[in-house]
Amino acid sequence: MISICLLGASGSIGNQTLDVMKRHPLDFILTAFSVGHQVNKIPSILKSFPSVRMICVQEEKAAEKYHKLFPHLHFFHGDQGLTSLIKESQADMVVNALVGFVGLVPSITALENNRVLALANKESLVVGGELIKNILASGKGKLIPIDSEHVALAKCLAVDSSNVKNLIITASGGSFRNLSRKELKTVTAEQALNHPTWKMGPKITIDSASMMNKTFEIIEAHYLFNFPYKKIKVIIHSESMIHSMVQYNDGTYRMDIGKPDMCVPIAYALYQGLLPYKTYVCSDYHDFTSYHFSELSLKRFPVVKWAKKVIEEKGTYGTVLNASNEVAVSAFLKGKISFLDIENVVSSIMKNHINIINPTLVDILRVDQEIRQKALKFIEK
Ligand SMILES: NC(=O)c1ccc[n+]([C@@H]2O[C@H](COP(=O)([O-])OP(=O)(O)OC[C@H]3O[C@@H](n4cnc5c(N)ncnc54)[C@H](OP(=O)(O)O)[C@@H]3O)[C@@H](O)[C@H]2O)c1
Repeated sequence: MISICLLGASGSIGNQTLDVMKRHPLDFILTAFSVGHQVNKIPSILKSFPSVRMICVQEEKAAEKYHKLFPHLHFFHGDQGLTSLIKESQADMVVNALVGFVGLVPSITALENNRVLALANKESLVVGGELIKNILASGKGKLIPIDSEHVALAKCLAVDSSNVKNLIITASGGSFRNLSRKELKTVTAEQALNHPTWKMGPKITIDSASMMNKTFEIIEAHYLFNFPYKKIKVIIHSESMIHSMVQYNDGTYRMDIGKPDMCVPIAYALYQGLLPYKTYVCSDYHDFTSYHFSELSLKRFPVVKWAKKVIEEKGTYGTVLNASNEVAVSAFLKGKISFLDIENVVSSIMKNHINIINPTLVDILRVDQEIRQKALKFIEK
């Protein structure tokens, strides 16, 4: 029986993680969880998982209110509360289903405290990839991806990791895949939130439409599998049935195929890769004639170019890319800027940044704050 501390239980991945755990009550026990503002979800989670002993919420007032309702439970609040929850719950595994920069410190805390980290929060690796790599290299903790593309790659590499030519990440193309750059000028947040193949939280859905999500996934693949930028490719595959593939030097491809359903990669992560699975080998993926593929164009999706800079120049570029994107996506969702302005905000801030090599966590936290201020000022102008 694996004990689990679930961060972000009220979100899309959090909710699906609870679903997977409900299906396997003899294998997993929920001992702690966090929600942000959706505290109204606490009672139903507790009803399904009476094993919970500790909860973290975002606001102190909500923590006080819910502690009165559930006095036998321990309540934490805020960013510091997430750290305390991880340490004090002593769970075997931390599932990080938080969205955005707030996930970084919990990821580091989980690994530093020797926990298995099942990671959906890709921002942790975009911003703190080097820090996380160093913690793992020191022998602390264990990292398992939840992202479907990376689970697909992990499965394929576990079967055969010799003579690999490229990792190929598939991309659905997001909500606007059939629109021209000209048509993108007038799209709304409501249209962007309508993803063609996946039902996800709002931030990642916008990141999918802008393709920033793939930029992040290239960086994530670099840190998870230790491949250089030039060996990580992206192709557009509209049906989201092939979740990514490994191309070998003999020209063959190994891939993970299945309906788009996040419960599958979540179960893979919870069972730490030990569930039986199948991968498929072919000489040319175009032989799957009922699936559609197209090349990724950097002219159509210019944000993908930032993956190269973050991977090859490292330092604080990942922090800058993430912070400027978070501010821009939030402004777009509030109707303050246009969809294409997300790229403009990110581009302007990235181009003006003077990189800090080998940043500490303190440097990263400071740069994140500075970049948020800069991005907000840029948007106001
Ligand atoms: N959704 C997917 O299918 C999918 C697939 C692959 C990877 N991912 C990645 O998984 C992560 C989660 O995505 P999601 O779609 O599940 O997002 P989501 O639905 O927006 O859920 C995010 C969770 O984080 C919590 N949260 C947000 N800000 C917080 C803060 N400042 N302090 C404490 N808690 C906070 C939210 O709490 P409240 O809602 O209660 O405020 C919620 O529980 C992202 O990094 C995403 O890129 C998602």
